Amino acid sequence: MTKARSNASSTQSKLEFDREDWASAYVNVEKELSQFPLKAKQGVIPPDLLGTLFRNGPGRLERDGQIVHHPFDGDGMIASINFKNGQAIFSNKFVRTEAWLEEEAAGRFLYRGVFGTQKKGGPFANAFDVRLKNIANTNVIQLGGELLALWEAANPYALDPSNLKTHGVSTLNGTLLPGEAFSAHPRFDPGHHGENRMVTYGVNTGPTSKIRLMEFAKTGALLSDRNDSFKGFAFLHDFVITPNWAVFLQNAISFNPLPFVFGQKGAAQCLSSNSKNQSKFLLIPRDCGAFAGEKPRIIKGPKGFVFHHLNAFEKDNEIIVDSIYYKDFPSIGPGQDFREIDFNLIPEGILKRCSINLKKEFVTTEELSSQCCEFATVNPYREGLSARFAWMAVAQKAKGNGPLQGIKKLDLLTGKKYLWSAAPRGFVSEPLMVPNKASSGEDEGWIIFFTWNGERRATDLLILNSVDLTEQAIIELPIAIPHGLHGSWVS
Ligand code: CO
Repeated sequence: MTKARSNASSTQSKLEFDREDWASAYVNVEKELSQFPLKAKQGVIPPDLLGTLFRNGPGRLERDGQIVHHPFDGDGMIASINFKNGQAIFSNKFVRTEAWLEEEAAGRFLYRGVFGTQKKGGPFANAFDVRLKNIANTNVIQLGGELLALWEAANPYALDPSNLKTHGVSTLNGTLLPGEAFSAHPRFDPGHHGENRMVTYGVNTGPTSKIRLMEFAKTGALLSDRNDSFKGFAFLHDFVITPNWAVFLQNAISFNPLPFVFGQKGAAQCLSSNSKNQSKFLLIPRDCGAFAGEKPRIIKGPKGFVFHHLNAFEKDNEIIVDSIYYKDFPSIGPGQDFREIDFNLIPEGILKRCSINLKKEFVTTEELSSQCCEFATVNPYREGLSARFAWMAVAQKAKGNGPLQGIKKLDLLTGKKYLWSAAPRGFVSEPLMVPNKASSGEDEGWIIFFTWNGERRATDLLILNSVDLTEQAIIELPIAIPHGLHGSWVS
């Protein structure tokens, strides 16, 4: 399945990953560390790197001998690394969600997971239990004085940024109703209209879907709030902003809840691509922009399925949206073990650019890169504006799917690329671009990310120069953290 193919060149087969190495990352995080000083094993931690990296991801994957059906069902565990004067200090803590506390006490899973984890006892024990377990595992950001651990189907959990202690479920000072959906993918407007803002949304879906678009000041104050309804089921994991628009891509998928209700499948396993449906771009005017108060625009989108976008910007009569497209919605069926997955059978993520012509209401699409990628980012000061450079996690091979093992920098103007690789035994997670405030170049700064070190069976932290991806520092963490989801940088 994942063995080196006979026609692969000797260089390629040397770099071919071992699935055991990849799967070995799926372990419970066994300890919580507080203010643990780290040392670079190789290189030097840049003294100009000042701030804190916060990362979220599943940290509890097994209870009472039962492993989650999909790693996305694992409880959120936050890691933080504070950088100052060339020193780095590490802490990590589970988010004390209500369900985590209950399951810790019980020593077994008491809830079903959205991605297919079932309670023991088969469909009979799971049927009609449609409670959602808020696992707060998808992203972590700072708003006002608090950290927010995000999970898109419910309220965020608030934490203390200094020690990662859980304060509890947050309604953001009464902005959210209890249990209301709140996206795990806020976007940070770097000052399109003066002040920095966090722009985010919540989706309530069904035959009609409601999107609530919210903008917050850095202090956490709510600046604007609007609600729009759209026809059809909407799975909206991510979105993008420009100075005037919030841009959503409504994927062409269907949701059949019956296997979920009857205890046979997790809710997300009931999603499927629907070629009869048409994907649509939903363009909602921002309240601070030129089209404030106007109705949303709806324009037919391309084929394919999108979880994550790279960026968007406005150009004359067009909105340009760069996103990672899959041929189909990938799901792990009830009988499958995610650790046994055959990457060759899953569609790869391809970075594509859509140009949405607002006057003529049509979309043209072009491929920006054919190498399988995920977790793409631009310089945060270019969010919502035209950006020349992008950084992303990539599979080792040039074509087809594979685990993420490299980092790529792509010049969107010239197509020039740089590659850094952790293959064969290393596996990368989402890279963050931290601009060097002392420099003005768009690509000047650092790329920071965790890798799973298959040889050491533990996690490393990598710091690369963002211009040419040269290694600045490799730091071995005294802990094993499973392949993670999203995180953020706080200066
Ligand atoms: Co995401």
